[in-house]
Amino acid sequence: MRMYDLIEKKKQGKALTRQEIRWMVGGFVEGEIPDYQMAAMLMAVYFKGMEEQEIADLTLEMAASGDMADLSGIEGVKVDKHSTGGVGDKTTLVIGPLVAALGVKVAKMSGRGLGHTGGTIDKLESIPGFETAIPRERFFRIVNDTGIAVIGQSGNMVPADKKLYALRDVTATVDSIPLIASSIMSKKLAAGSDGIVLDVKTGSGAFMKELEDSIALAREMVAIGIAAGRRCCALITDMDVPLGSAVGNSLEVIEAIETLKGNGPEDLTEICLQLSAHMLHMGGKGEIDACYDMAREALMDGRGLRTLAAMVKAQGGDPAYILEPERFEKAPFCLEVRAEEDGFITHIDTALCGIVSVILGAGRSRKEDAIDYSAGLCLKKKYGDPVKKGDVIGVLYASAKELLGEASKKLLSAYTIGSEAPPEKKLVYARVTKDQIVRF
Ligand code: URA
Repeated sequence: MRMYDLIEKKKQGKALTRQEIRWMVGGFVEGEIPDYQMAAMLMAVYFKGMEEQEIADLTLEMAASGDMADLSGIEGVKVDKHSTGGVGDKTTLVIGPLVAALGVKVAKMSGRGLGHTGGTIDKLESIPGFETAIPRERFFRIVNDTGIAVIGQSGNMVPADKKLYALRDVTATVDSIPLIASSIMSKKLAAGSDGIVLDVKTGSGAFMKELEDSIALAREMVAIGIAAGRRCCALITDMDVPLGSAVGNSLEVIEAIETLKGNGPEDLTEICLQLSAHMLHMGGKGEIDACYDMAREALMDGRGLRTLAAMVKAQGGDPAYILEPERFEKAPFCLEVRAEEDGFITHIDTALCGIVSVILGAGRSRKEDAIDYSAGLCLKKKYGDPVKKGDVIGVLYASAKELLGEASKKLLSAYTIGSEAPPEKKLVYARVTKDQIVRF
């Protein structure tokens, strides 16, 4: 086989066979197919797309390119959740403990921040002592004992995605449905859970900005999950506005703790309850409405919070930080950003809010950059809120005073203030299952 011929075939819009995809993925991981040829293939896929069978084949070959987790050492049904990435998305820290407290096992492998979006592993590492790289046997023991553990991906999981993602990042081929679907689902399949609830984000802070594109992405991912023999469904949720108020690692852990105490922001609480309900349903705990009520009860009576504290302790972290979040170190410098006119918040450029958090030190501009766990921002005004000139719209936190100036200008430019209240926005737009799309 020659890579030249496969590129030519895809350029003409023809479908690649399973054997061709296997040869291509294997050759690329082994370094036999050079980056420039794979880059040409990625661009051909970007413009010509892939058929459903091709996407499933690509995903399975990518998943099998490295270690595949065998979770059979963990008792019961294991259900995973995956978000396609967003700003202020701390849902895993709330949902994982809630679902585990109600008897569905969560053996989760999470990622670090990517571009303007945050990552669960960085957030958890802001808890002093918390270990995200732990041996398999200990990971299994913690899940069996506490119901949940969250670790980073092992070194040799889905190497095909690591190489492909890095190449997509520099060849403007990230926002392609077949490429995103295969990237995410290859990691989910390799992570080994029986069921997967996908949280597909839509809006200005998401990779997919348009609702119909997000639905198309969700349909592809659900089809792949089902074809691979897993239970799988997706909710399409709003990422046109940052989720909750906090953006930044320890700030988000604190907001997740408040949410598990029943004091969280409404949007975050509602999305967490809906995703939890779908995970519990998938884990065999009953109808979705009944599961929603169960999740709400476990949130209000503190069972979710106690499970989070137990997981933190089991993974070497100090659970006192969960029970008394005021212990988290505060950033030495903060700045209130104030509205420059009267009106209503009609739009927030969510990706720009993510960039503000990176400027403040909460994310990485380069892979090797260190993270400042206390850095970030808290939004005080959100979409639809009325504001008066001089009102605080957000508070910035940083360890160096000079970072605040640029971040404050950018945060102001992320807000659009109009004279009339904008229409209400939905939090959850649709549910995608094997055979249905239900729009809300
Ligand atoms: N997250 C991933 O893991 N891969 C993508 O392609 C996009 C988001």
